[in-house]
Amino acid sequence: MNELLKIKEDALSQIEACPDLKVLNDLRVHFLGKKGPIQEAMKSMKTMAPEERAAFGQVSNEVKQAITAAIDEAKVKLEAAAINQKLAEEVIDITLPSFHVHEGTKHPLTMIEEEMEELFLGMGYQIAEGPEVELDHFNFELLNLPKDHPARDMQDTFYIDENTVMRTHTSPVQARTLLSAKGKGPIKIICPGKTYRKDDDDATHSHQFTQCEGLVIDENITMADLKGTLQVFADKIFGEGREIRFRPSFFPFTEPSVEVDISCFSCGGKGCSICKQTGWIEILGAGMVNPKVLDMCGFDSKKYQGFAFGIGLERVAMLKYGIDDIRHFYSSDLRFLNQFNRKDS
Ligand code: PHE
Repeated sequence: MNELLKIKEDALSQIEACPDLKVLNDLRVHFLGKKGPIQEAMKSMKTMAPEERAAFGQVSNEVKQAITAAIDEAKVKLEAAAINQKLAEEVIDITLPSFHVHEGTKHPLTMIEEEMEELFLGMGYQIAEGPEVELDHFNFELLNLPKDHPARDMQDTFYIDENTVMRTHTSPVQARTLLSAKGKGPIKIICPGKTYRKDDDDATHSHQFTQCEGLVIDENITMADLKGTLQVFADKIFGEGREIRFRPSFFPFTEPSVEVDISCFSCGGKGCSICKQTGWIEILGAGMVNPKVLDMCGFDSKKYQGFAFGIGLERVAMLKYGIDDIRHFYSSDLRFLNQFNRKDS
């Protein structure tokens, strides 16, 4: 018994003086473990008389409980101390000045592209994509521009090889979309993307530029649908109250084809330098999808018809933001780019 009480005293004083959680765990293993002094002392129970054994058993249990309780209590204290110490070591001085983070701005073309996407998604269109390195087959042939067709001269083309081009417009995505729909309408897509032409770069020409194609196919589509759609586009992008004017034009893949003008958003039609005194600004090419294209791409042109349009996004951005040189879009000049920081523009 005395032995047990001595063990208890010894344990409690060591626990009391214990400096950290690791030593405390060692003490727990030592005093309460199978090879510990209590267990050792209990070996002598075998030779005791029954009453003595019961009393001894009781005391040894009490000693174990006392040690366990002391360890639990010390553990709570040491854990709290460890957290406090960690907090003190990792204290952050929130009064220090922070680093200056330079916030990037969106490229004006990205802004126009996103505006277009939002507008047309809202009208139930989907966004389609196609490759920039395109087969002649999609860029020309399926759009009713066979190899020796004179209208190919309208678009000076970068050829990769005899059958492969850098796409000269986003219209090949019309052919791709029609083919993958396997003759079943309706279709409503836009496709914004990069396009390439062998132009000499100047203030209004760039060998690489951006278009946004639109294609709608269904059973009762008319030119009035095209006009209404472009009216929404003009009002949304250039401000309410724009007028739209169709002028006859020619594209092999649309019939009839039109060149579309909007009334000048700057002078309201009176005539100014932006509209070159005409009151009108040419903004895009469009038309009713040529039945030949529908047939070549697996659509029954007796049942289906539709419209298509192609908008030059640089031109839209130049008009909208008053940019005077297309090369600004591609020169990465921060003095130019940083002007488009306004959240409202
Ligand atoms: N792809 C034509 C161009 O780049 C524009 C266009 C698209 C015209 C769709 C009609 C219909 O000039």
